[in-house]
Amino acid sequence: MSLKTTISSENLPSHIAIIMDGNGRWAKEKGFMRIFGHENGTKSVRTTVESCAELGVKHLTLYAFSTENWNRPKLEVKTLMQLLISSLKKEIKTLQENNIQLNAIGDLKTLPEKVYKELLHVIDETKENSRMTLTLALSYGSRDELINAMKLISDKVKNNIISVENIDETLINQHLYTQNLPDVDLLIRTSGEKRISNFLLWQIAYAELYFTDVYWPDFTNENLYEAIINYQKRERRFGKTSEQLN
Ligand code: IPE
Ligand code: IPE
Ligand code: MG
Repeated sequence: MSLKTTISSENLPSHIAIIMDGNGRWAKEKGFMRIFGHENGTKSVRTTVESCAELGVKHLTLYAFSTENWNRPKLEVKTLMQLLISSLKKEIKTLQENNIQLNAIGDLKTLPEKVYKELLHVIDETKENSRMTLTLALSYGSRDELINAMKLISDKVKNNIISVENIDETLINQHLYTQNLPDVDLLIRTSGEKRISNFLLWQIAYAELYFTDVYWPDFTNENLYEAIINYQKRERRFGKTSEQLN
């Protein structure tokens, strides 16, 4: 029986973020090139996106390429960018059929023009979709995002658009790449690594963290359900005591 039936619809994480890791090791263990792992990872992306939408998750954010990933071998970067273009072209249909809006965060201007154009095209085509937002983190680094926000805010202070007293959590949120998204409720990382790798540092302040040893290309719907069930068993106290919550 699928674990899906044990998920409660009341206590669903409204925003799930995933560090999709382990593509390279998955391929290497099978004796293949790393890129074969990335290709197979796209299947997990599709099933995860569809399952989240079906469950009623409102926001899904996927870490697809970090600012640090630019330092990988040129050929791997190039192939990843090509894979992105082909996936965007192919998956626009999945997004439309499931009423999913595409969004992107990161230093998008640094992406190759072809990727950037395809991305904007799919974002535009899906902008009216309302069941779930799928956000791709591309050329994304949390520190880069924070630096960018600080620059934008400093500029506004300098030009007397706002005063220093106006700087609060809401204002900072409004200047992050994630401006339209709520905080992350559940952060999943695959492949056994237990680190954040410069992902959404501000937005995961109170997220529940879930680590699984499964490599991303092997990540199935059942693995996703397991993570959500685990999340639903936790008590999120936000600094309060258990007694205060009940
Ligand atoms: C994650 O898998 C995908 C990207 C970072 C683009 P990796 O490529 O990091 O796979 P491992 O960690 O080397 O196994
Ligand atoms: C994080 O994975 C980035 C993405 C999943 C896109 P990495 O594989 O790049 O992370 P580190 O370098 O091992 O921490
Ligand atoms: Mg990795």
